[in-house]
Amino acid sequence: VAPSAPNIFWHTGKVSAAARNRQNGQRGATVWLTGLSGAGKSTLACELEKMLVDAGRAAYVLDGDNLRHHLNRDLGFSPQDRQENIRRSAEVARLMNDAGLIVIAAFISPLRQDRAMACAIIGEDNFIETYVSTPCQVCEERDPKGLYAKARAGLIPEFTGVSAPYEVPLYPALVLDTDCLTLQQASRQLFQYLAQRRN
Ligand code: PPS
Repeated sequence: VAPSAPNIFWHTGKVSAAARNRQNGQRGATVWLTGLSGAGKSTLACELEKMLVDAGRAAYVLDGDNLRHHLNRDLGFSPQDRQENIRRSAEVARLMNDAGLIVIAAFISPLRQDRAMACAIIGEDNFIETYVSTPCQVCEERDPKGLYAKARAGLIPEFTGVSAPYEVPLYPALVLDTDCLTLQQASRQLFQYLAQRRN
């Protein structure tokens, strides 16, 4: 990718990705969890992270809500801001993958074109799109943060699933409905998927 300003040059390091993978005993990858608010993305992400770390793998959760406290604190929920949120977060995931980490990314990431952009940034080989498909009605019944109630009352504009769109992934690597699966079942499916990937 070309830099946005002139007089910028790429500096190549001395440690190859293959050397890092050998040293870490794993290949970096990003499990990209997409789904509605309340679908269970963050809960699943943290459970998988714990399972991986307990198994001796280096893993790290990038969570939309958390990144919006710091790196993405200047962004709201317009389509443009969501796109920038996904772009920056995918760039962070790419760097972490390059360093050999398994990233578990939990972002609503409601638009196909933004998820396609994340895939392009991270690289198709390292991008594991996982649709947390918990139905909107279930998410709204759970309403763990009271956001659906606020959105229905007109207090949150552009709320995904209420007044902003969610585009279902067309070809996800995995589909996990946390209404039908226990947390253990869902996280184990992801853990096994990662274990089957060659190092
Ligand atoms: S996005 O669409 O990918 O940029 O969103 P993300 O960075 O994952 O942030 C989602 C969390 O922000 C809170 N929130 C909202 N979500 C959706 N729509 C609107 N308008 C909104 N306003 C605030 C909400 O807590 C989301 O967290 P999760 O964990 O998904 O429930």
